[in-house]
Amino acid sequence: MGIEKFIHELPRPIEIRHEGSAPVELSVRSGPVWMGLRDRDGERLMTTVWGFEYAGQLHSPGPTFRARTDRPIAVQWLNELSGPHLFPVDRSIHLASTKDPDAVPIVIHLHGGHSEWESDGNPLAWYTRGYIETGPLFKKKTYHYDNSQDAATIWYHDHTLGMTRLSNYAGLFGFYLIGDKNEDRLIREKLLPGEHRTIAVAIADRLFTQEGQLYFPGRRGQPSSPVLHRAVEDNWPDPSHLDEFFGNVMVVNGMVWPKVSVSPHVYRLRLLNAADTRTLVLKIDGDIPFLQIGSDGGFLDRPVRLSELVLAPAERADVLLDFSQYSGRKLIMRNFGPDVPFKGFVEAQDPEHSLALVYNRGGNRVLSDGRGGTTPPTDPQTSGQVLQFEVMPTTGSATNARDEPRALVGDLKLKADTPLRPPLHRLTEAQASRSRQLATFRLDDPYGRNLLLLGTLRDGSLFFGDPATEIVAHNAVEIWEIYNPTRSAHPIHIHLVEFQVLDRQPFKGKLIPKSQPFLHTDKSFQGARLKIEALTGELLPPRAEERGPKDTVIALPGQVTRVIAHFDREGIYVWHCHLLSHEDYDMMRPFEVRASAS
Ligand code: C2O
Ligand code: CU
Repeated sequence: MGIEKFIHELPRPIEIRHEGSAPVELSVRSGPVWMGLRDRDGERLMTTVWGFEYAGQLHSPGPTFRARTDRPIAVQWLNELSGPHLFPVDRSIHLASTKDPDAVPIVIHLHGGHSEWESDGNPLAWYTRGYIETGPLFKKKTYHYDNSQDAATIWYHDHTLGMTRLSNYAGLFGFYLIGDKNEDRLIREKLLPGEHRTIAVAIADRLFTQEGQLYFPGRRGQPSSPVLHRAVEDNWPDPSHLDEFFGNVMVVNGMVWPKVSVSPHVYRLRLLNAADTRTLVLKIDGDIPFLQIGSDGGFLDRPVRLSELVLAPAERADVLLDFSQYSGRKLIMRNFGPDVPFKGFVEAQDPEHSLALVYNRGGNRVLSDGRGGTTPPTDPQTSGQVLQFEVMPTTGSATNARDEPRALVGDLKLKADTPLRPPLHRLTEAQASRSRQLATFRLDDPYGRNLLLLGTLRDGSLFFGDPATEIVAHNAVEIWEIYNPTRSAHPIHIHLVEFQVLDRQPFKGKLIPKSQPFLHTDKSFQGARLKIEALTGELLPPRAEERGPKDTVIALPGQVTRVIAHFDREGIYVWHCHLLSHEDYDMMRPFEVRASAS
């Protein structure tokens, strides 16, 4: 099997611009696609994936929706899959378990969507082919998206309980771009590039077998080559969930290490980290800065200039890149993130509080494992490379912006202080009716595996299957404080809302064992409670690029991360870690928004 780098053009997913009230129908099915692999004879090797059938063709990633603010659309995501799953399903964890062992359930969540709960794609709203079996929260076949939100880069993906990591890996995700009048104006006034210079870019890491098939490890040890370790140690379930996944091949919009041909102008990239566990730290050759104009849920108030971009799984960044000075050059977008779960950037290490990590605000990047050591850097030849920009040579006098006052970026009229939107309406702490103290926990399950849970300071660790503890009053503004005593950063996602990041603060705490039923078997198990002893450092304001509307925030280890949100729709939703392998076991919790709360 051969993989060539930067030969094949970046695929641009087909777009769905839908008008009218008839639902868009997309069939989810399995089939072969070409991801850029070749066999020894140079013939194309096809890879079996799961994708979405639209206009008579299978797409993986799926088609890009082009929606408009306040123009509703209906979508029916038809399950046409026949099992078994492409990847090892662990039946010892919480699972959408079907009576028919060969049926594969799906449910599609619109991530970042301000969706009614019956259309949210709750992990318990799964269904099998032909709706023969459905999960306990399945409510309707046709989802209704009212698009009651600002222009934003959001996305859809599978969210089936206990197999989200596997079905996303199989290919069940795609972009959903919402446009509005403000964005139209920015393009019309040449503050932003138009659609012909806008590229949606979904980045994921994968492992392949010699035969060119996707490989997902499902046994103890995490092979970087697809040689299964047959020997199952201890009493691990087989196949087993693993608490992280790192691949050595970067796949962008479904193509391995693609190139993208650009002209020497400013481009708009709408970036999505669609990986399982890998946090990206992106940089572009030539130190081309990222001018970030939007975050998860829409435009920032003003552009933010960054020399490197940190993107945890599920986060999005809307950025401008100026290629005007690079005609004829080939520039690689590289990844400097670690090949282990992200720990954060270390500025100063207090040996007393080895968990207290803070962002580097001086510009010197140091990766630390939180114990004073450094984490293995990513491999510069594999996961250290993402895609290549091939900048076409200038053709004559394409630009005539020479005599204009120096624009911030290339031929655009955008400057450092140009407002991108009417200022985001800031929620204030005084508006909040309450704050909730929430926490992450790293525990050992009865099989000796890592088990990551969420919970509260009051109750300690809780499973997804435990009753909801976050019952929010309809229309309440609440502050959620997420204490992270584990050694890794967790990108925490809350459904329904676009929240605002208030701040972060290091803390010192103690874990106290608590007895707790292990929900999946009757094996004995010890959970934990977190007792906060002190907040130990200064309040760290959100990074400039985190000041826009967010639905996923990096909860750094040793810190409490505080967000504020307006819960303006009733229903049953979830919040969870978006490292998909964490979310699947069992780092997710339900929450409810009710007319009367508790
Ligand atoms: Cu992107 Cu609950 O998910
Ligand atoms: Cu996590």
